[in-house]
Amino acid sequence: MNGVRARGDRPVLVTGAAGFIGSNLVLRLLRDGRDVIGVDDLSTGDLAHLAPALEDGSSFAFERLDVRDPQLAALVERHRPGVIHHLAAQVDVRRSVEDPLHDADVNVLGTIAVLEAARRCGVERVVYASSIGSYGEPAEAELPVDESFGAPALSPYGASKRVALDYLDTYAHLYGLASTALTLANVYGPHQTTAGEGGVVATFIGRMLAGEPCTIHGDGEQSRDLVFVEDVVEAFVAAAGDGAGKRYLIGTGRRTSVNQLFEVLAEATGYELEPSHGPARAGEIRHSSVDARAAARDLGWHPRTSLESGLAATLAWARTARSV
Ligand SMILES: NC(=O)c1ccc[n+]([C@@H]2O[C@H](COP(=O)([O-])OP(=O)(O)OC[C@H]3O[C@@H](n4cnc5c(N)ncnc54)[C@H](O)[C@@H]3O)[C@@H](O)[C@H]2O)c1
Repeated sequence: MNGVRARGDRPVLVTGAAGFIGSNLVLRLLRDGRDVIGVDDLSTGDLAHLAPALEDGSSFAFERLDVRDPQLAALVERHRPGVIHHLAAQVDVRRSVEDPLHDADVNVLGTIAVLEAARRCGVERVVYASSIGSYGEPAEAELPVDESFGAPALSPYGASKRVALDYLDTYAHLYGLASTALTLANVYGPHQTTAGEGGVVATFIGRMLAGEPCTIHGDGEQSRDLVFVEDVVEAFVAAAGDGAGKRYLIGTGRRTSVNQLFEVLAEATGYELEPSHGPARAGEIRHSSVDARAAARDLGWHPRTSLESGLAATLAWARTARSV
């Protein structure tokens, strides 16, 4: 980025820019003609996801930085973004159980660092990536859950993502910093790796394309609300302009069991091995789905991509990524 901006709008800063959702968001913002600054410490992210943005270079600047680094404030001061999408996080649930201090350090202190930089530099809106994993097990009759649902978190990851939400409210109260939180269901799509949340789609696709055995944990009847990354990115774009002070659930309201997912992907990839069944994962939620009517009402957001076409796009990307 060359100091002089081609467009009147202030730039947009994305933390976690080299990650799965963050990189899709960066590419979308650039397609919309925005100037974008990407921040990522590359702890799990991959610059390859940002290759088209880095090649062009005129509207995109990448800074390899930990959001907890004191240099973040100077970076925000230098670029003066109008909006910060805060997606950088420790997203590995099992790692959060093994090392809850590290998890809280990144997810709580990292979020506070972003909010501090935002309020000091007059950022107009922070959009925060929250997680349905922050909430415990809903009763089947409560599904799909809406924004009033709030069972205690089952993991330190859930707890840290949730604590960060309170800081959004505190910064709104103390400094008038406007923020919107998007509580995401299980996101899937291009650029997703096998680590982190919602990785079952990426794991099955990776194993099936490699002809390797797949393991289903438990009986496979556990279900998830699988939402396509492009739809999620659309919600971030919408939340940059609407919904200040609100929290929205983002998902399809539909439940797909792990067994169903396995069958659809096996069919699409021509995979013929039978899955093996391993022990159920301790602490895993049995069923999950979210009611996104509030996001539809206030943000005009709808999940537009069917599971079939989202999986086809994900598979096409995975095939290309394997052949590179
Ligand atoms: N993938 C999902 O299904 C899902 C569901 C709910 C919420 N979320 C949330 O969405 C956000 C993005 O998740 P994702 O799936 O893209 O994960 P991801 O791991 O692909 O992306 C996170 C990115 O943050 C970076 N990062 C981690 N710690 C950092 C730090 N201290 N400073 C700077 N960068 C750092 C990583 O390198 C990575 O690129 C996270 O906040 C996550 O909690 C994801």
